[in-house]
Amino acid sequence: MAGQRIEIDAGGFGLVLGVGDDGRVHQLGFGRDTAPATADLPTWLYPLAYPTFGEEHLREPALRITHGDGATSTRLVYRGHHQQVDGRGTVHRIELADRVAPVRVTLCVRPWPDVGLIEQWVEVTNDGSAPCTLHQVAASAPSFTAVDPHLTHWGGGWANEWTETTERIASGTKTVASAGGVRSSLHLPPLALLAPDGIASEVHGRVAAVTVAWGGDVRFDVEAAPHGQLRVIAGAQHRGAERILDPGASFSSPPAIWAWSETGIGPTSRALHRYAREHVVRDGGRTRATVVNTWEALFFALDPERLGAQVDVAADLGGELFLLDDGWFGTTHPRDDDTTGLGDWEVDRRKFPHGLQPLIDRTLKTGMRFGLWVEPEMVNPASSLYEDHPDWVIAEAGRDRREERNQLVLDLCRPEVAAFCLGVIDRVLTEHPGISYLKWDANRDVTEPGSGAAGIATDRQSHLPIDRVRATYELMAEVGRRHPDVELMACASGGGRGDFGTLRYFHEIWTSDNTDPLDRVRIQWGASHLLPASVLGAHVTRWGNKPLAIGCAVAMSGRFGLDLDLQAIDPAEREILREAVATYARIRDLVQHGQLYRLVSPIGTDRASLAYVDDEGDRAVAFAYRLADELVGADEPGSGPGHAPPLAGLLAAIQPSRTYVVRDITPGRASPGPARVEVLGADVASAMFAWPAGPAPAATIWEISAG
Ligand code: DGJ
Repeated sequence: MAGQRIEIDAGGFGLVLGVGDDGRVHQLGFGRDTAPATADLPTWLYPLAYPTFGEEHLREPALRITHGDGATSTRLVYRGHHQQVDGRGTVHRIELADRVAPVRVTLCVRPWPDVGLIEQWVEVTNDGSAPCTLHQVAASAPSFTAVDPHLTHWGGGWANEWTETTERIASGTKTVASAGGVRSSLHLPPLALLAPDGIASEVHGRVAAVTVAWGGDVRFDVEAAPHGQLRVIAGAQHRGAERILDPGASFSSPPAIWAWSETGIGPTSRALHRYAREHVVRDGGRTRATVVNTWEALFFALDPERLGAQVDVAADLGGELFLLDDGWFGTTHPRDDDTTGLGDWEVDRRKFPHGLQPLIDRTLKTGMRFGLWVEPEMVNPASSLYEDHPDWVIAEAGRDRREERNQLVLDLCRPEVAAFCLGVIDRVLTEHPGISYLKWDANRDVTEPGSGAAGIATDRQSHLPIDRVRATYELMAEVGRRHPDVELMACASGGGRGDFGTLRYFHEIWTSDNTDPLDRVRIQWGASHLLPASVLGAHVTRWGNKPLAIGCAVAMSGRFGLDLDLQAIDPAEREILREAVATYARIRDLVQHGQLYRLVSPIGTDRASLAYVDDEGDRAVAFAYRLADELVGADEPGSGPGHAPPLAGLLAAIQPSRTYVVRDITPGRASPGPARVEVLGADVASAMFAWPAGPAPAATIWEISAG
């Protein structure tokens, strides 16, 4: 067994493990060109592949167990290795076991060679006759040689999602973790970038990107150990989530997915986008409709006449899907604001005397589809549901039931609650077959994490953080099975559910409630490090009171839509929106399915630029934003070496010797630049890069097509 090597390749990005004389499994290589790293050194000198508590007492563990006999250390040895082929490819299963305790640990590695990613998770099985307790089971813990390690992570909470932090990891352990359990990615999106050799750019530097595919809380521990060794432990957040594993039972950790690049950050995002579109998101290859939403148009003040008028304008502008947001339900406790009615999913007959059907019919008659807002996992205490079933919520006996947004979280671990929630969605979709889209919202986190579910005994209340997410997945999956043609948007107070675990059940997310175009440039920039534009709902609203043209130019770089009072727009605005909808329909294949090239970052500057290019390099669309009158933080475009790397990034995707036509297609441009310029591919970047003229905010969109 000693000397055994396990080589796993994901199309040029690999993991090599080796078994030492001591029977332990070490990581011989992780990244590109892993073979040379394995040259002459004895295996035991390499870092452990999966460190455990009690094994390396000065280092962070990935696994911590209290065994059936009360012992707290775990020391794993290699038992075997085999490959298993399933419907999604090959899984390498590396079997380990504790030297003493009857516990098996399987390191599972699935390479995704088509997209160049590696997925890892860990299974723990209790082969003993007494229960053991799992305190921590991380998905993966690779090590890196690092000379100047920098970590990038994001967060920010409501209306501030995806705020970027890049910091040097000098020594010790830096932990970033989400909390709250429901809207986890609102607080900390489940993505970390590690640049081991110093700050990386879009096109330069070694970069490892890792995401945890989990709709609950996640955690990244980045540990800088002596001798330039760096380890990243990635997985579900374990604090408060200990699990008792009964004899014979197994636990499988949520997976982590790794991307690797030797040429900067850009390739990691493009690999994650392809993976999302091809292996995660529902119908990931399908083009998304232009959505017209009612939330910022009317909020809770819904009435059929005003809605009908909105439908007519939406259709006239070219909208494709009319979405009725919050406020349509509640009878005993009408939903006139966010204090009442949640949980009572009966149509409010005061607002809709003839139900929703007339509005649905009117919408469908225009050729648009109809969508509806729901928040099935939650309840207002001021509701019939709560009056009838106060025990259906997540709560701890004898403790306050703390409200957030005047609501509580339903306990989906109780089968009767899960059945109720499924019934709500089932009924609304069955009674209204014209509904082909649901916005599934969730507007609070879990506090006092207690469950009265029969399956969660009093000594196992800490199972709730994992079990609640799994129960939510079951509900989401069943909705998908029963209503395969209904598209689902995941929303959780904005971007609280932007993770690859939840997205398996959804078609797209609501990126953020913050739709001020200036903030949205930054939020969408951050989100693009994980998520493709096809899933990033981006609507033009009045938030921030910026000109609608700039709002359009920002929203058009995501999954475009409108969310403002369409009866209150003036004729000039109407024409801008009409133009934007039509232009987006022409370029959306590029935005939604093209390869993203981030060109100029809005972080620390007053401008931004990005482009989407088709796979053949025949067509591209590029966006440039001036966010302030005085441009600071970067050189003028094309004027200095500071710009060479990002432009080189775009040039790599188009063909330098071909002729391209570059057209300014910015909606509402009062005095457009040259409408049409023909240039060689090599010159496209300079032809494109005249930053939009002030006053800020201003934007330019170019369409670039091979002539
Ligand atoms: C929070 C969402 O983020 C908003 O878009 C909107 O749907 C409201 N909830 C409705 O209550």
